[in-house]
Amino acid sequence: MPSLASLLPFAAVLASGLASAVPNNATLASRTDTAKRATCTVNSVSSASNLSSCSTVVITGFTVPSGQTVTIAAASGATVTMTGDIVFSKTTSAGPLLTFDTPNINFNGGTHNINGNGAQYWDGQGTNGGSTKPHPFVKFKGSGTFSFVTVLNSPAQAISVGTSGTTVISRVTVDNSAGNSGSLGHNTDGFDISASDVTLSQVTVNNQDDCVAINKGSNLVIEDSTCIGSHGISIGSIAADHSVSNVKIARNTVTGGLYGLRIKVDADATNASVSSVTYEGNTVSGITEYGVLISQSYPDNDGTPGTSAPISGIAFTGGTTSVSVGSSAYTLVVDCGACSGTWNFSDLKASGGKGHILALNKATISGGTY
Ligand SMILES: *[C@@H]1O[C@H](CO)[C@@H](O)[C@H](O)[C@H]1NC(C)=O
Ligand SMILES: *[C@@H]1O[C@H](CO)[C@@H](O)[C@H](O)[C@H]1NC(C)=O
Ligand SMILES: *[C@@H]1O[C@H](CO)[C@@H](O)[C@H](O)[C@H]1NC(C)=O
Ligand SMILES: *[C@@H]1O[C@H](CO)[C@@H](O)[C@H](O)[C@H]1NC(C)=O
Repeated sequence: MPSLASLLPFAAVLASGLASAVPNNATLASRTDTAKRATCTVNSVSSASNLSSCSTVVITGFTVPSGQTVTIAAASGATVTMTGDIVFSKTTSAGPLLTFDTPNINFNGGTHNINGNGAQYWDGQGTNGGSTKPHPFVKFKGSGTFSFVTVLNSPAQAISVGTSGTTVISRVTVDNSAGNSGSLGHNTDGFDISASDVTLSQVTVNNQDDCVAINKGSNLVIEDSTCIGSHGISIGSIAADHSVSNVKIARNTVTGGLYGLRIKVDADATNASVSSVTYEGNTVSGITEYGVLISQSYPDNDGTPGTSAPISGIAFTGGTTSVSVGSSAYTLVVDCGACSGTWNFSDLKASGGKGHILALNKATISGGTY
């Protein structure tokens, strides 16, 4: 039988082997933590400056001083949450003041506000004059999901969507209702989209310009959303070299405002087009100028249409879209210089006001009441 002493060197080797294995594994785990699993807190502009290794970001309430902007560029796949409001001081900085630029983000605003202090800029002139207004206020880049946040009182345009991968924006609110006071809020678009593969679902916008404006892109869905007092849900305005295709606008409610559902193509646009837009089960009411307007004469509503940016494949199908307009408004106006195809409007039920005006060019409309 070996003596205890003769076993000790072996035990010591074994122990030292274990001793070195354990720290190695622990070191590896902690490297993984800092490299890929770090939780980072954003509570100031400087604390947001380098989030590239953060896979979890918690934004606490803080105020952004004048002259500064914030970009949330976290690790791909990061979860970003808010536990307080982000408030922007009045500034002469150009927009966007807040940019999200994280691939595959999972952003949850926890129903907190991103507050632009719009009342300190609003003068009824928007981005056409008067005080310089940073715009857009907030920009969504990267890709992923954005939910449960309120963009409050943007100086002018609220949220620009320029994402580069599949993106879902749900339960996001733009509240510029305070800009109704004295008609001071102007050009306060809710969502301006220049991107593809984007779904807006259950968003709410209360503002003084387009609720949603799609400037270019394909494979876009606007669904189950609410627009109050806006200029409605728009494709456009479409400028030269900009095309929009494959859009579904479904089950939205548009209440009040100048326009309900609109396609607006710049009269001078070339190398541009709008195709495959389907309206399904929307409810539009209380519109004061145009319930549905499809026009190639923008910025005129119904003027001399251009002929170099064709529109095709417009449909009201898949469930009734009801449109009711005020006494001095039109139900449906089409002002085409270059339109084509048979447009199935069988699920459009528009009523009220002064009725319709149709200049269809080579398109035909089948079905529907207007
Ligand atoms: C090494 O660390 C991982 C994760 O921290 C743990 O799951 C695993 O059990 C550890 N292995 C050893 C040998 O301790
Ligand atoms: C950002 O932080 C990472 C590590 O967390 C570092 O490797 C990188 O150099 C930093 N970038 C800048 C611009 O400071
Ligand atoms: C047409 O527009 C596309 C972008 O949509 C652009 O890539 C292309 O260069 C334009 N063509 C011309 C002739 O301007
Ligand atoms: C037009 O749409 C209606 C309702 O969605 C549908 O029942 C009908 O078949 C369509 N007509 C044509 C010609 O596609």
